[in-house]
Parts: sequence; C-alpha cells; structure tokens
Amino acid sequence: MARGQTPETGRIGLSRRQVLLGGAVAGAGAVVAVGADALTRRATTSGPTATRAEPHEVLHGGDTVAFYGEHQAGIATTPPQSCATLVALDLRPETDRDALRRMMRLLTDDAARLTQGRSALADSEPELAVVPARLTVTFGFGPELVRRTAAVAPPWLRPLPAFGIDRLDDAWSDGDLLLQVAADDALTVAHAVRMLLKDTRRFATVRWTQAGFRRARGSEASTTTMRNLFGQVDGTVNPEPGTADFDEVVWSRDGWLAGGTSMVVRRIAMNLDTWDKLDRDGREQSVGRLLANGAPLTGTQEHDEPDFEATTPLGFPVIPEFSHVRRARSDDPRERIFRRSYNYDDAPRGEEISASGLVFIACQADVDAQYVPLQRRLDELDLLNEWTTPIGSAVFAIPPGCAEGGFVGETLLA
Ligand code: HEM
Repeated sequence: MARGQTPETGRIGLSRRQVLLGGAVAGAGAVVAVGADALTRRATTSGPTATRAEPHEVLHGGDTVAFYGEHQAGIATTPPQSCATLVALDLRPETDRDALRRMMRLLTDDAARLTQGRSALADSEPELAVVPARLTVTFGFGPELVRRTAAVAPPWLRPLPAFGIDRLDDAWSDGDLLLQVAADDALTVAHAVRMLLKDTRRFATVRWTQAGFRRARGSEASTTTMRNLFGQVDGTVNPEPGTADFDEVVWSRDGWLAGGTSMVVRRIAMNLDTWDKLDRDGREQSVGRLLANGAPLTGTQEHDEPDFEATTPLGFPVIPEFSHVRRARSDDPRERIFRRSYNYDDAPRGEEISASGLVFIACQADVDAQYVPLQRRLDELDLLNEWTTPIGSAVFAIPPGCAEGGFVGETLLA
C-alpha cells in the first residue's frame, strides 16, 4: 500500500437527490416538525446547492472513513484530516454504568451515521451531514468514567506526573469523556460536534474544547509532513500507520482495552513573539533539524538518519546536546509514541500579537512505559522549552472499535 493511503476510506457521491433527501432520512423528529407534505414539496423545489464540480475541480467532500472495525478510526487514519476538535466532558453525578451504556450506544449511532454522510437521528441541520470529508469520531474514557463501570483501569489512566515546565490550567486539563472529531472540512466538524453534544447533554457537561488545524486537504501532497506555527516540519520520525511497527507502538493488547490505545492531549503554548527574536540558525539548533525541509543538521533530506556523533571542526556536536530531537529520542525502542497533533491559533490578548501553539496528541499502548520517560527527558533538558509551555494536560483510554450492531465501549460496558 502506498504511503498515505488507508484501506478504510471510501467515497459517496453527493447527488442533488441525496442533498435534498438527507433531511427526510433524518428520522421522525424532522418529519413531525415540518410535515411529510412539506418534505415532499421541498424535494421538488430547486435550491441553491451546487453539486457539480467544475472540470478542474477535485472534490473530497464525499470521501468517507469506515466507522466500524477492530480499532476506532481517527488514530491510524492517514493522512490526518485538516481540522480536528477535541471536546472533554465531565459526567453528571447521576450518570451510572447503565446510563453510560445508553450514552455510548447513542453516540456510536450518531458517529456511525455522520461519518458515512448520513444525518444523525433528529438531526436539525441534515443538509450539513451530507459532506463527510473523511469525518472520524474517536471516543476516549477518562479515569472517572472507568471508575463508574467498576472495571479495572490500566495503571496509567490518571493525570501525568507534574513536570517542572508545566503551567497547567484546569480549564484545559483532564475530563471524563473525550470526543475527537476530525474531518477535512471545518463545517462538517462543527456540525458533528454539535450533534454529538446534543446527545451527551443528559449525561455530561462540556469541560473544555480545543480546535486545531493543519493545511487544507489539496493544498499540498497528502504525504507531506505537517508544519507547526514555528514553521518546523513536525512529525517526521513517527511510526507509520499500517505497519507492524505502528501496531506494536500504538495498540494495546490488554483486557477491555485490547485493540484500543491511550491518548495524551497536551495543550502547548508556543511563544511566536519571542521565537521571532531568534535567528534562523538558532531556530534550527534548538530542534536539530533544518527549517527548509526538516532534514537533520547532519543531512540533506527530511528522512535522512541524524548522525548524533558528528562534530563541528571545533569539536562541538553538530546536533546539539540540548536539541529537541536529541532529547526526544531514546535508546530504548519501547519508549516511542505516535504523534498526531494539530495547530491552534487563538486571539491574542493585551500587548501580545499571537496566542498560538499545538494541541499535542500522542497515542501509545502504555503511557507510563512509553510517554512519561520521554516527557521526563524533555522536562530535564530541551532548548525548545524556552519558547514552549504546556498549559493543558489530559490522559484518556481509547477503547477498541466495534462491529455493526455493537457500540464503542462495549468491552467495558456490555
Ligand atoms: C510545542 C511543542 C513541540 C514542538 C514545537 C515540537 C516539535 C518537534 C519537531 C520540529 C520535531 C522534529 C521532526 C519530527 O521528527 O517530528 C520533533 C520531534 C519529536 N518530538 Fe517534538 N515538539 C513538541 C513537543 C513534544 C512533546 C511534548 C513530545 C513528547 C513528550 C515530543 C516528542 C517528539 C519526538 C518523539 C520526536 C521525534 C524524535 C526523533 O527524532 O526520534 N515533542 N518535535
């Protein structure tokens, strides 16, 4: 399989009929609201929706990612979609194990429909559902949710240990239930988030929401490694979805989590205002890679293997000891993670002209064995810490996927 392809993708045609009838399929709620008569009339009324592409246009809106499967979509889905919104919720006190099961059945049904370009039940804006644009919905469980099921939680399912670099804000941290909603279209994401949250309302309240972006689909080749707002090529050394290596690093093999994984979500502020003061050489030294193409300072191509032994004529390491890539790499092959981050760009406050950073997302089978040692090393020494500050932190267990007729979380709740 070529790099960047997924076995799980499909495509639906966005016919005019589907656009118009999407509402009718939406379920009894819509029919009762407007009446069958009105729906029939609507189906014969011409609307403003243009569905035919210009000859040079390639439309991606009809692309779908399979919802059902051994693993939840949205982790190995490649290339990562261009927009993602992560929502963490707090369970209401009365949401017990039975209620959790009802909630996850509802949410699974919503996600199964929306990801395939079909409106959710009682969808109030069914026209927004017909452009799935590779929509995926990934559910994660926080420590409190698992506690309420009385199941045994993996030992790592708790807040990360405190790190010296952390300036964590509760408003961006923790949570009982995670929704990661990603697509190549921001309107699709917004609609899906809203439909899902309508169904969580009885069970939980929103704790935080973090929206992120990468380059728009079609702006560059889909296999291009993403860039962050420092301009760095970010994601070069990463296990590749669809390989045995990826399976080993990411998927859990334990109990109810088998086929699932963990997700660490860190909100990391990147101070673009002070980064501006650093020259290009300093910027490249801080990471150990070239800005132009992400090649290591000892190489010329992005995927060249860094030579950590190489020295300058004066005897200094070419890739500095304090550089991010040197500190982030372990000699122990088990200490590896899969990064799938998104940029954020908030409105600046006061004298600042930027409030940007990364919604840093890392998946691994075991947080304690894989993520924590790495984060410890970066906490001790990493020149990038000069311009980056973790301001939010959360850890979730991502349960496995399910088959049609089942629901996400059934290995814990059924
Ligand atoms: C805003 C914060 C961060 C920025 C801007 C950043 C940026 C980068 C860049 C530019 C690279 C080099 C290219 C690549 O392989 O992706 C890199 C590599 C890496 N980063 Fe980060 N990073 C950040 C935070 C983190 C954190 C919190 C972790 C984990 C705890 C991490 C783990 C890694 C790893 C494992 C690599 C690959 C190292 C290797 O070459 O083996 N990064 N990062």
